[in-house]
Parts: sequence; C-alpha cells; structure tokens
Amino acid sequence: MATRGKWGSRMGFVLAAAGSAVGLGNIWKFPYITGVYGGGAFVLVYLGFILVVGLPIMISELIVGHRSEKNPIGAFQNLDGKKSIWQAAGWLGAASGFIILSFYSVVAGQAMAYIFKSFAGFSGSPDQIVAKFAELKTNPLLSIMWHTIFMGLVISIVIGGVKNGIEKWSKILMPALVVLLLGLTFYGVFFSDGGKTALAFMFKPDFSKLSSEAILSALGHAFFTLSLGMGAMITYGSYLGKKINLPRAALTVVFMDTIIALLAGIAIFALVFEYNMEPAAGPGLIFETLPVLFAQTGPFISVPFFLLLTFAALTSGISLLEVVVSYFIDEKGWSRLKSTLIMGGTIFFIGLLPALDKIQVMFKGKRQSFFDIFDFVSTNYMLPTGGLIIALFVGWKMKKNIIESENFNSKDWYYNAWRFILRFITPIAVIIIILHGLELI
Ligand code: PFF
Repeated sequence: MATRGKWGSRMGFVLAAAGSAVGLGNIWKFPYITGVYGGGAFVLVYLGFILVVGLPIMISELIVGHRSEKNPIGAFQNLDGKKSIWQAAGWLGAASGFIILSFYSVVAGQAMAYIFKSFAGFSGSPDQIVAKFAELKTNPLLSIMWHTIFMGLVISIVIGGVKNGIEKWSKILMPALVVLLLGLTFYGVFFSDGGKTALAFMFKPDFSKLSSEAILSALGHAFFTLSLGMGAMITYGSYLGKKINLPRAALTVVFMDTIIALLAGIAIFALVFEYNMEPAAGPGLIFETLPVLFAQTGPFISVPFFLLLTFAALTSGISLLEVVVSYFIDEKGWSRLKSTLIMGGTIFFIGLLPALDKIQVMFKGKRQSFFDIFDFVSTNYMLPTGGLIIALFVGWKMKKNIIESENFNSKDWYYNAWRFILRFITPIAVIIIILHGLELI
C-alpha cells in the first residue's frame, strides 16, 4: 500500500477542513436558496439543522476518519472488522463526490470567467449586467472551456497530495477570503440603502413562506455546506495522525462556515434591495447582483472577489476529488497520479452534461437541466442518506470506549448531549424529512 499522506500541523488540518466546507455553498448557494425560499424562516431552519444534524455528524465523520486512518469505504470495514453493510455509506459518498464535483466545476468555471470580466470592468444598467450572465451560462463552448480549466486545476493540486497541495493553499486563501467578505458586508450594512432591508429579510422569520421543499433544501444544504454525508471529513480526519480535540476542531469549522455564509448573504441582499433586484433570481444571483456594485467600484474589488471565490471553490473541489482518489490509493494500491488522473478525468466527462445548459430532460414534472437535477438529487437525497448511515454507525454501532478515546470524556455534558442528539434527534429528523421529500409521508 502506498504511504498515506498526513497534514503537517493541527492548524493546517483545521484550515483544510474549513477550506473544504467553505466554498461555493456559502457564497453562491446559500444566498440564492435563501432568496428562493423566502428569507428569515428558511435561515432559521437551516441554522437549526446545522446545530442538530451538521455539528453532530461532523464530529462523527472526523472520529471515523481519525480512528480508522482510511478512506470512507475502507473506514467502515476497518472499524466493523469485516466486509460490512455500513460500507454502503462509503460507496454512496463516492457516487455523491462524482456528481457534486461535476456540477460544482461548472459554477466554479463561471466564477473564473468573472475574474476576466472584472478586468474588463462591468458597465451598463443593472438589466444589461444581468443579461451578461445569461450569455455566459448558455454559451456551450465557454462553459465547457471554463469547466475544463477548473477540473485541470483541481486535478493538478490533488496530484500534489495533501500537505503540499491542499494544506498549503488553504492556509493562505481562507483568511484572505474572510477579510474581503467582511469588507463587502461592512459596505452592505453601513453604506448601502439596502442594508436594513437585507437584515430584516434574512433574520425576521415569516413562517408562512416556509414550504416543505424549503425544509428539505435547508437540510440538504446543511450537509452540502459543511461537506458532510459523503465522507470528505472522514477522509480529511484520516490524514490527521496526531491527537487532536476533534469536537473542538468540528466546532471551529462549523462556526467559520456558518459565519461566512451569513456574511455573504447580508452583503448580497444589501445590494439586491439597494438596486431593487429580484431576491429569488436563482443560481445566477451573485453573478447578477455583485457586478452592479462592481460597476461603480471598479476591478480593484471585483478581481480579488472572484479570484477568492474561485480559490474557495478550489479548496472544496479538491476535497470532493480526494474522497474518490483516496479509495483507489488505499484499497487498490494505485499511485496518487494514476488515481487522480483517471477519477478526475471521469468526473470531467460527467461534467459535460451539467455544463451544457441546453440539454434538458423531464424531472419532477418539468424540463430541467442536468445541472439542476444533479444538484437537487445529490444535495437533498444522497448527502442526507449518507449522513444518516454515518450517524447510525457512530451512534449505535461503534464501541463507546473507542469514541471516548477520541478526546471525549463520558462525564462531559457536551459528550452526553452530542451522543443523545446523534442517536435520536439527528436520525429521526433526517428520516422524516427525506420521506416527506419523497412524498411518502
Ligand atoms: N462544502 C462545499 C461548499 O460549501 O461549497 C461543497 C462540498 C465540498 C460538498 C465537499 C461536499 C463535499 F464533500
């Protein structure tokens, strides 16, 4: 077996895990789904899921990875002692990795395209700026070109391995992104006319706007944004080696991820309301609203913004590919190079479907692009199902003494709270919501 990679330091691990969690999910997806599902009530439900589903499963994935030092498929076998049914979570996770990265790369490509548009500068009325995004999205050649470039970057960084590739980049880029977002939020709240309305939109819940699809999406997004339910955190935990306080590491990652999503939401909705734009515009929201502001500030702000958005997407994209690659390295003895090229190449080809906006099929009673279908199915069903299996495994199957050796003490109140939530509340919540989403209850 090839030697497994290891993080260089505890801090490097936490930043890499945060780098996986913080990505397009926070800055692109959270604001747009908050807009689509009507604001405050959706945000509240989402925050609730982060606490009772996300945090407990994050701790569980890290424990499984750290303890087994294996990829998600091998991890369950290692801990259960035989070929085990629990491995299904690992297989489902690998499948989710394929699907998510294939559409993730398309949005990341759009962010990259906007770096170049920023250099040229944005101009014209808000309507003209909005139209520019549609031009990019519906242009097959450009979409494929940017998808290819993004996948090429992800593949080359993953070939470099965990310490040189993943850890080094996360250390520099995460803090830079936070500073820039703070600046944009500060502008939104204190200098734009939309700041107050944005805060009310995001934090004053109106439960009459909360549909059952909104609740399913809030659950799915809690998984997506924290990189949970597909073994990314199992994989990152497996490279840890050292002893570390896993609950605290999980709390740090969850906190950073949530703050960044909320900051991005405030910054973007401040602009939406300042320029009388449509909060429910959908997946194009950040590409349509921010450039209206950037038309006034110039490339000085817009170039760094889209550059950092691309980097945030890269550190997450890397973790999506790493899950699949680690399996072939650990279990099949492939070299990192071979594993990355073959798996990255396959995902690239799958990604041609979501990259082409014109290819549409019937799904849930309407014509939809592969982009929308891949996103909906992986986020709302595959990740929660994977997460459910992980919660059941750690909550009910794993031995208590093994868990307690991972920096937990059975006398700590938070240990008992975590275990209780993980065993009862998390699985019940996930099962009810998935079944309801499938219209079975
Ligand atoms: N958490 C990432 C984001 O919010 O952009 C997306 C993601 C990365 C999902 C890795 C799942 C994953 F395993």
